Amino acid sequence: MVGAPSVKVKRAVDYIEESCRIVADTITLVGKHVGIGVTTLELDNIAEEYILSHDAVPSFKGYQVPWQSEVGGKKRYLTYQYASCMSVNDVVVHGLPSSYKLQEGDILSFDIGVYKNGYHGDSAYTFAVGEISAEAKKLMRVTEEALLLGLEQATGRNKVYTVSGAIQKHVERNGFSCVRELVGHGIGEQIHEEPSIPNFIPPLLHREQYPNVRFRAGQAVAIEPMVNAGKAKVDTDDDGWTIRTADRKYSAHFEHTVIIQEKEPPIILTLLQ
Ligand code: MF3
Ligand code: CO
Repeated sequence: MVGAPSVKVKRAVDYIEESCRIVADTITLVGKHVGIGVTTLELDNIAEEYILSHDAVPSFKGYQVPWQSEVGGKKRYLTYQYASCMSVNDVVVHGLPSSYKLQEGDILSFDIGVYKNGYHGDSAYTFAVGEISAEAKKLMRVTEEALLLGLEQATGRNKVYTVSGAIQKHVERNGFSCVRELVGHGIGEQIHEEPSIPNFIPPLLHREQYPNVRFRAGQAVAIEPMVNAGKAKVDTDDDGWTIRTADRKYSAHFEHTVIIQEKEPPIILTLLQ
């Protein structure tokens, strides 16, 4: 068109895409440093430095959650102090980076969020440390497969529970279980937005908590199965963050931020290159 302005308009997805590229590259970088004897705090520092050097900030650092109890009528908040979550073995999510040295046979779920230009990206990946058991390998494989099977159903034609059901079915037919207390989510200007995306079909009486809404083309969502080798039940440590399996069996976590399309499976923005 003659006289059309040559201004390039950036859309929200362009910004989310940029945050997600940094997320994925951080995971790749951290993966190169995962090994026997490395501490999870060292890995967290590597992640944070990489993110800061890309004019971005780690989404989780400074993240506040309401404290379980209200003391003296005042709402209290817990503030997350690290760039990433480092969840080893029986820790499901929100493990705190520490001086713990990774050992042969460990699995490390690394969860990282990046905020840049007003938008967040979020992804998680479970790494093996040295040789791991056959069961741990299967747990990691099944969790990643469940994520991809869930993603396949995340289209503008489907609703949330179709994704939930696809994830749950694959996990349970392999003898594992999906955590109930934590769910996937919309993402964008906030790290957690509507809709909630459970990794299980909510029982009848709990469906109000997780409305079975249809996905919309163009929407950004983070889908993130947390899969336990044993039972679904989890406990929270006294630090208020660390969530681990009640039976102390291993747990794995894979997460992608994606853009929903009308008919086709979504565009995965946090694919590792
Ligand atoms: N990574 C989590 C998610 O995927 C959120 C972490 S919250 C924090 O939704 F407090 F641990 F940072
Ligand atoms: Co998430």
